[in-house]
Amino acid sequence: MTETTDAATREQQALIDSLPQDFRWGVATAAYQIEGAVAEDGRTPSIWDTFCRVPSAIDNNDNGDVACDHYHRMPEDVGLIKELGADTYRFSVAWPRIQPGGKGPVNEAGMAFYDRLVDELLEKDLAPWLTLYHWDLPQELEDAGGWPSRDTAYRFADYSMLVFDRLSDRVKHWTTLNEPWCSAMHGYVHGVMAPGHRDFGAGVRAVHHLLLGHGLATQRMRAAAPEGTQFGITLNMGTSDAASDSLADREAARNADGMGVRIYLDPLVHGRYPSDVLSDIAVRGAALPIEDGDLSVISTPLDFLGVNYYFGQQYSGVDEQGSAVGEDGFPAQRPIPFGEPTTAMGWEILPGKFTELLTRIGRDYPGLPIFITENGSAFDDEPDESGFVADEGRTAYLASHLAAVAAARQQGADIRGYFAWSLLDNFEWAYGYAKRFGLVRVDYETQQRTIKQSGYYYRDTVRRVRGS
Ligand code: NOJ
Repeated sequence: MTETTDAATREQQALIDSLPQDFRWGVATAAYQIEGAVAEDGRTPSIWDTFCRVPSAIDNNDNGDVACDHYHRMPEDVGLIKELGADTYRFSVAWPRIQPGGKGPVNEAGMAFYDRLVDELLEKDLAPWLTLYHWDLPQELEDAGGWPSRDTAYRFADYSMLVFDRLSDRVKHWTTLNEPWCSAMHGYVHGVMAPGHRDFGAGVRAVHHLLLGHGLATQRMRAAAPEGTQFGITLNMGTSDAASDSLADREAARNADGMGVRIYLDPLVHGRYPSDVLSDIAVRGAALPIEDGDLSVISTPLDFLGVNYYFGQQYSGVDEQGSAVGEDGFPAQRPIPFGEPTTAMGWEILPGKFTELLTRIGRDYPGLPIFITENGSAFDDEPDESGFVADEGRTAYLASHLAAVAAARQQGADIRGYFAWSLLDNFEWAYGYAKRFGLVRVDYETQQRTIKQSGYYYRDTVRRVRGS
């Protein structure tokens, strides 16, 4: 299975081929989604270990106890990254491995794993891109108040320095947080991710403390950084269109964009929260717990912005009953499908919105190099007897979204690289193992890995663009 170039239309192919030779090509994972070995070498539980024990919180009551067993199969998995033709690997460090219980000195046995991983990557000429926080908060810190509590931001900066002190001689790209929107909103407002709370006020306090933690950690790491070290943050973003021209729909779209994009990027880049977002929050009787000096910490300069894109949405400001006030007594906000095909997640496939998002970020937040730190799709894979997956849907998604990135570049967005989500099928949070995003199939019974058609397509594309 090597002839994969016909996966893209001629037009997509031409766009993809316009990407520069020095474009960075990566694959991404996250600690809890792949590592397993949750009680090994001194690791203590994170909020995800706890959340997975809540009956029905996760589809099929799955958990990350074993996951892809990457903790024991790391060299094999690094070999796969190489086989996929990538030059960079985005992974995350599990806080409770480094600092069991969330405070105190380094746990040497836990740190040793990442030390070995980084060495293994460098030996294979793969650049390590390290994310410090991909959602696995030590449970003890949640018990002490979690992200709604200001102290967690300081604990995060301490933890970051422990990792930085040990790995900054070899790791040049550091990402503080992955998708703080998910940590704050899904974790503290919607209740669908750990720690599973439903409290809007707690959610917005979490937003501010996540951003503060990012700023504190970045300032401290930068002060100690070897020449050439780069710092960034990864945000999940989409587009928010109004379903119609009505005032209610335009308001719903503005609010979604405010809470999804501008509440993060405005303080990070411009050093202030948008005033319309502050009013939206006040309308709900909540407030961001801003203290003097916080915004200058949060807006400490970034070297790059990580963008995770999966889909765009359009919104109506009127609920199913035709009311502009939702059941909770606040302005209604309802996503309205565009009517396009969806992935297995139910997310509409909208590559054009990817281009729109990227050109908009380039325009509204200029001067910030962009890396697509995640993009990918879940489909219901059907392996043949040998375990091979001819995943046409995922391959087509990859081709159309790479073309969308190239189109945005041609329109002026400063995009420097693309990381496919994900290297492996893995633990998809509340969806457990049912949803597969990998370029490589994992048979969870045997832990056998098999590169899918999409993986070969990725490899061939990288080779072609690089001219190698
Ligand atoms: C974003 C998250 O960072 C990642 O952990 C997750 O698996 C993918 N989206 C797909 O939902």
